[in-house]
Amino acid sequence: MSADRASDSLTALAADLRRRSAADPALAPFAGLLEQVDRSSARFERPEPCTHATMAHLGPALAAAAGEPALLAATRAVAEAVNWRQIYRGEGVDPALAEGMLAAQIAGQVGILASDSLRTGLFLLAPGLHYPLHTHGAAEIYYCMSGRLTLQHGAGGTPFELRPGDCSVTPPHRLHSLDTGAAPVLLLYVWIGDIDAPNWWWERRPEGGWRRVNWSRTPDGSWVKTRTETVTEAHLRQANG
Ligand SMILES: [Fe+2]
Repeated sequence: MSADRASDSLTALAADLRRRSAADPALAPFAGLLEQVDRSSARFERPEPCTHATMAHLGPALAAAAGEPALLAATRAVAEAVNWRQIYRGEGVDPALAEGMLAAQIAGQVGILASDSLRTGLFLLAPGLHYPLHTHGAAEIYYCMSGRLTLQHGAGGTPFELRPGDCSVTPPHRLHSLDTGAAPVLLLYVWIGDIDAPNWWWERRPEGGWRRVNWSRTPDGSWVKTRTETVTEAHLRQANG
């Protein structure tokens, strides 16, 4: 079950991004890599049950989901076939934030399908959540399937909203933050490029300027906090585009 559903979801997402790439060429590399995922590389046929409290938001998010019919059907089907996990372990993070974000890889390091060239899957965010400004070396697509997501690019950027059927591209190293409102948000995400690079969470220093906290990926696909460093001028230029 899982392998076919993963394959169908990649096909539907790649086709949708391919169509959109006529107007937005930045989407074409994502579509190209999705099309190339080896469909015979399935690791499991049945998902592990997930009893995490945030899973209570998945059903309502799927029920409220909207968008291109083939992608919507494939997303609803694959959501039951993936392994859902809490992605940030708890250390030093507001528990409501760490526990309010679940992800499930469709293809990648721990996905249903294996891939070394991308990571793609579903990202479920609880209502009322603020995922702080962060950067990573990978280029990223967020494709909204359900709820309303407020995104900000750059430290002083103007927030913008993604609604079902909207997608955004975050360039490598660009600062971005995410906020949810009253409804849970369900996204499809795709990472390409430097997909093994760490994730950096930025925070203002009491004495001025910024510091950033390194989150490195573990073998199970989750993130663990390692070290903190001061943000340099070069980091700032890269992060604000
Ligand atoms: Fe991101």
